[in-house]
Amino acid sequence: MRLQLSTWAEAEAYLEEKNGIIMPIGSTEQHGPNGLIGTDALTADAIAIEVADRANAMVAPVIPVGMAQHHMAFSGSITLRPTTLVQVIRDNVQSLAKHGFRRFYFLNGHGGNISTINTAFQEIHAESSLEGGEGGIDCALRNWWIGPEVKKLSGELYGDKEGYHATPSEVSVTQYLFPEAIKDVAMEPAPKMPPRIGDATDYRNRYPDGRMSSDPSLASPQAGARIFEAAVDFLVGDYQEFASGE
Ligand code: NI
Repeated sequence: MRLQLSTWAEAEAYLEEKNGIIMPIGSTEQHGPNGLIGTDALTADAIAIEVADRANAMVAPVIPVGMAQHHMAFSGSITLRPTTLVQVIRDNVQSLAKHGFRRFYFLNGHGGNISTINTAFQEIHAESSLEGGEGGIDCALRNWWIGPEVKKLSGELYGDKEGYHATPSEVSVTQYLFPEAIKDVAMEPAPKMPPRIGDATDYRNRYPDGRMSSDPSLASPQAGARIFEAAVDFLVGDYQEFASGE
């Protein structure tokens, strides 16, 4: 069930039975020569919607802009400061908690969000611990690619050409979801470099076309379909376990 496509009465009826919700969160940032700026939000949202469908769960609207300060030297990237993103997450969770949601399963599409999401969870708990805010809230963070089958598949398909940013795996998933937006761009494999992140200027100097050690020219919609399915397959069971409180 998509919250955005439900009525308030349907949301109320859902809450009589369940208190879990899937919270997709992504980023709006450059993804190398052929990757879409929306990659991390589009993948997280589509995977979350499919997981919710198969798990009979509610899915919230995607949080589309994340913590991407290091991509700001590339046109089109948008970032929230970490402190802003903490507040966005906190207000989303606490709004939904007012209605009775308690188990928040953040389905994340962007590695750069991880530390800020975890900080937001601690802010939410601190508010309950210190100020008597909404209690009994349980938050989980899962990156969409954590399933063992996803890692195995990416390894088989791309090996060390997977890299760290603008990966062929994530570009493949967007090519599967949005075939009309596939870009045909010639490129050489990016040089192998350690994934070091400073500020935006530093990032662009180090990784001039935006990729980190990846070769997304290997992406295909067919691979994207397989990676999408492997991700959803793992996350459905994982969500159900989380939602049951175990
Ligand atoms: Ni990405």
